[in-house]
Amino acid sequence: MTEELKIFVTGKGGVGKTTISAVLALLFAQRGYKVLAIDEDSQINLPFSLGIKDANKIIPLSQQFDYIEEKTGVRPGQGWGSMLCLNPDVSDVIEKFAIKASNNVNILVMGTVKRTSNGCLCPEHTILNAVIRQICLRQDEVIIMDTQAGLEHFGRAIAKGFRYGIVVSEPSFNSIYVAKQAIRLAKDLNIPNIFIIVNKVRNDEIEKMHNLGFELTNSVKKVFFLPYDKHLIQYEPDLTVFINNDSLFMNTIKKVFEDIFSHPV
Ligand SMILES: Nc1ncnc2c1ncn2[C@@H]1O[C@H](COP(=O)(O)OP(=O)(O)O)[C@@H](O)[C@H]1O
Ligand SMILES: [Mg+2]
Repeated sequence: MTEELKIFVTGKGGVGKTTISAVLALLFAQRGYKVLAIDEDSQINLPFSLGIKDANKIIPLSQQFDYIEEKTGVRPGQGWGSMLCLNPDVSDVIEKFAIKASNNVNILVMGTVKRTSNGCLCPEHTILNAVIRQICLRQDEVIIMDTQAGLEHFGRAIAKGFRYGIVVSEPSFNSIYVAKQAIRLAKDLNIPNIFIIVNKVRNDEIEKMHNLGFELTNSVKKVFFLPYDKHLIQYEPDLTVFINNDSLFMNTIKKVFEDIFSHPV
């Protein structure tokens, strides 16, 4: 059976999550899929990588106070007593708030929710959680969610339908450490298809990568390596032109794309 193409991308800050999310989204779109790109990172970089130029177009869902109040019964910032509706119907959220980046690419920006140690029962979190949990797909659709580091915040919602987890790392000790934690979390959430992409690999690191690949392969389906590409910085943030480049980075990520998604399990 073909699994729904709901994909999340996670890893330490700065490793290339947004770059990889955007490129995968654009490659899916080129192949005729309708893509919903979800920006779950509070830094909100993904829309710009997908070609949105006007920051005024971006109003995060967490700031749509009227909508949140309509759906949960509680306005953000106000006390809620026992009135908070924890399972709101958010089936109209894309039609209302998605930003159209191109014919095939829509973007939903989640925005920030204050984190609390015991999980947050505030109305903003309730809405974002419901969106991640409820959003469903038709045959030719795909969801790619660019997350902030750590899956704890929306873990249960992510577990509900995200069948693909892409953990991004740099070749550094620290980001591999974070990647291993992310892999453990994704496994705890029973995500069946977990991949790791080690990004920004330089030529002189090939040997080290060989050993690393060996070490990581035991815990994920497959380990991929993407080269460091000094040209990326000239294109950013908008990657819509960059994806047509005949560069080592693009050629390699296209192979990764085919490898993971040409025969979805
Ligand atoms: N393979 C690569 N080669 C060179 N620079 C890269 C590569 N991947 C990402 N970058 C750059 O690294 C920076 C951080 O990438 P980004 O995708 O924003 O990371 P994250 O979303 O994980 O914080 C950006 O300036 C981006 O252009
Ligand atoms: Mg990012």
